[in-house]
Amino acid sequence: MKTYKIPIIAGDGVGPEVIAEGKRTLEAAGRTYGFDIAWKEYPYGAEHYLATGELLSEGALKELSGYRAIYLGSVGDARVPPGVLERGILFALRFYFDQYINLRPIRLLEGVETPIRGKGPDDIDYVVVRENSEDLYVGVGGRVKKGSAHRDADVIRNLYSVKFGLDINSDSDEIAYQLGLISAEGTKRVMRYAFELATRRGGHVSSVDKMNAMTDIYGFWRQIFTEMAARYPHVKTDFNLVDAMTMWLVKNPEWFDVVVAPNLFGDIITDLGAMVQGGLGLAPGGNINPEGTSMFEPIHGSAPKYAELNPPIVNPIAMILSAAMMLDHVGEDDKGNRIRTAIADVVREGKVRTYDMMRFAGGPKAISQGAASTVQMTDAILAKLR
Ligand code: IPM
Ligand code: MG
Repeated sequence: MKTYKIPIIAGDGVGPEVIAEGKRTLEAAGRTYGFDIAWKEYPYGAEHYLATGELLSEGALKELSGYRAIYLGSVGDARVPPGVLERGILFALRFYFDQYINLRPIRLLEGVETPIRGKGPDDIDYVVVRENSEDLYVGVGGRVKKGSAHRDADVIRNLYSVKFGLDINSDSDEIAYQLGLISAEGTKRVMRYAFELATRRGGHVSSVDKMNAMTDIYGFWRQIFTEMAARYPHVKTDFNLVDAMTMWLVKNPEWFDVVVAPNLFGDIITDLGAMVQGGLGLAPGGNINPEGTSMFEPIHGSAPKYAELNPPIVNPIAMILSAAMMLDHVGEDDKGNRIRTAIADVVREGKVRTYDMMRFAGGPKAISQGAASTVQMTDAILAKLR
């Protein structure tokens, strides 16, 4: 029997609650379809950081590089300043393993109500291929003021004074900056992935940019997209400015099939997409390095206000669908599909629904108002595994 070795970082908030359900589902799938899983748990997250001051250890990163896929819950905790866990854990993993694709399927299941009036499952079925390593996420930025020791201080203050006539020697001209950088190779590889995916789906590719305002960075993006499109003459393409794109994704989601977007715009449109297909509780994702160590996590965050409710009430489907994507990734698409089918069956029947699927607010009363708990939802899915 084949054994998959899967490291787990449960993380913060509801992360551990939903990942427990993902584990349970994969174990049940293993019993049903004949494979074994050896889990290895890592403690990283807010608790570990607050107790030890450590975000991720170098040793752990080395160890993790021996795996095809990491299963990640979510990181984020109000006790830690914003960005510390995100940069120190989430981005550290994405960047260290060069997971340059953030794959986020947006698919409305039958039985789920979309907030877009008049649209159904046939209309909402696209995949966002978000660039995951560059753009405004490269982490080049800072604050520059008088006497600043920053390496680029003079350059930036001079640029700024030329543009705005600021007195660069005054005390009041503090400047904050964050650079968006994209490379030809970094852009080509994500586009190649998008065009290959569209080829497999028999579909088309829509590019997202903002080249009318940020001409350098997104003009480059669009140029590379155009060059890549020429190599895939059978794949139809279109360009979209990101502001208009948010409009089209609401107005005409049926137009889209594969959407390729730079990192920041991809981040934004996938929250929109998640809502359109029924909310964050149903939206999975994968951070993929096709040749290296990938990582699977839902689009949702740690949702601290829902953590620690007893029983847990958050929807485990996003986390379980992320596990199905992990199975696809290791070449077990058929098993991933069977888990997706079980979920689709439960959702279509509509007998077992978590609070988010019933469109009321989550909280301690959710269960008494008729919502299924996290564990009950998983039980319903397991009962459908064939
Ligand atoms: C996501 C999240 C992260 C991102 C946050 C938590 C830093 O929003 O995975 O979409 O911006 O990439
Ligand atoms: Mg996001």
